[in-house]
Amino acid sequence: MGWANLVDFLKHKNVNCVALCDVNQELLDSRTKELQEKYNQKASQYKDYRHILDLKDLDIVIIGTPDHWHCLQFVDSCSAGKSVYVEKPIANSIGECNAMVHAANRYNTVVQVGQQQRSAKHWNEMIQYIHEGNLGTIGQVNVWANFNYAAIATPVADTPAPDGVDFDMWLGPAPKVPFNAAKFNGLWRVYWDYGGGLLTDWGVHLLDMALWGMKVNNLPNKTIAIGGNYFYPKGGHETFDSLNVTYQLDDFVINWSNNAGIETGLGGRNYGLMFRGTNGSIVADRNNWEIIPESGKLEYKKIDADPKDHEDHVTNFLHCVDTKNRSTACPVEVGSLCAKYAHMGNISARMGGIPLIYNDKSMSFDNTAANRFIQPEYHNSWQFPKTK
Ligand SMILES: NC(=O)c1ccc[n+]([C@@H]2O[C@H](COP(=O)([O-])OP(=O)(O)OC[C@H]3O[C@@H](n4cnc5c(N)ncnc54)[C@H](O)[C@@H]3O)[C@@H](O)[C@H]2O)c1
Repeated sequence: MGWANLVDFLKHKNVNCVALCDVNQELLDSRTKELQEKYNQKASQYKDYRHILDLKDLDIVIIGTPDHWHCLQFVDSCSAGKSVYVEKPIANSIGECNAMVHAANRYNTVVQVGQQQRSAKHWNEMIQYIHEGNLGTIGQVNVWANFNYAAIATPVADTPAPDGVDFDMWLGPAPKVPFNAAKFNGLWRVYWDYGGGLLTDWGVHLLDMALWGMKVNNLPNKTIAIGGNYFYPKGGHETFDSLNVTYQLDDFVINWSNNAGIETGLGGRNYGLMFRGTNGSIVADRNNWEIIPESGKLEYKKIDADPKDHEDHVTNFLHCVDTKNRSTACPVEVGSLCAKYAHMGNISARMGGIPLIYNDKSMSFDNTAANRFIQPEYHNSWQFPKTK
């Protein structure tokens, strides 16, 4: 995804890629070559991101690493005075989200979180339609994502890391474990030390739309989740392949559901969300949104998407960097809010399905046993960023 991001940055004439960083030499070499051949740009290679941050002519850092790395790389980039485009979910824990918001505010950093749906025309139009009150009283929002990739990988034995891969640097603050190919490139998403499964991977994109549509800027009053591994119990994953989460807010509930191992879903959509109002419902995904009237109270309508959302998200960020405007389409607080919702759902399910009330000021749950999930212990001599 780091490369996919960069490609949209390079569509802008005033963007030069001066450095590429990855812990995998093979990937570094192939991307350096591609950058030279397709874009006529010569970037230096790095395996340790901290050295990039010393570059004086570097304005922007794109963070497209696995989720367990985002926080450290983000905080260090902010403190080095760079603007940051950070992939979603902004972090792999609630505590890291808070550390990142703190750092961005402390260093006055212009941040864009890679929740590109925020820049999509059709999502913006849908949100406006909801905010105008057209759906009547909305009592429920359903959000779902069903993707095989989060359950079906075949587990394999540990092996030495491939030549050219600095696996210690891949692990970073995560616990030291042997290399395992089934948890590496992209597949880390479904192991708790590196990711949070479909709820943090797709959930943040979609919960973000639910929270935006419902004008929610606060955490839920209560979260309750039940999860299990039922579709592919022997598939390589720790995160739940079957998971339901309910968030209680003052006047409505938000439900999340994920099924990893099947790829069908409500209204023929394997992922999406549905706002349910007294006048009608909206069902939406990245392709379109539909208005489904409640007994003739609205007119049925289907509005198609414009596929330029990612490009527009990057353009919005570059404009904000140029104008030193921190109000990007998806600032760090927005990324933090929906990431915390996602983590809270996973925590309730990991606690065996108990309802949880979370207090962000004291960074604690009403059930103290759940507090261990709020902030990870950092390993391998990496230090959790200071927040004071
Ligand atoms: N916005 C979107 O629609 C979208 C889509 C896909 C992925 N993502 C996000 O992008 C991020 C990356 O996902 P991915 O699918 O590209 O994963 P990936 O595993 O394919 O790529 C991550 C890369 O980071 C490298 N890496 C690991 N540790 C590093 C370190 N310390 N320094 C430098 N490089 C390091 C890995 O070698 C790998 O090449 C994730 O946070 C993911 O959620 C966002």
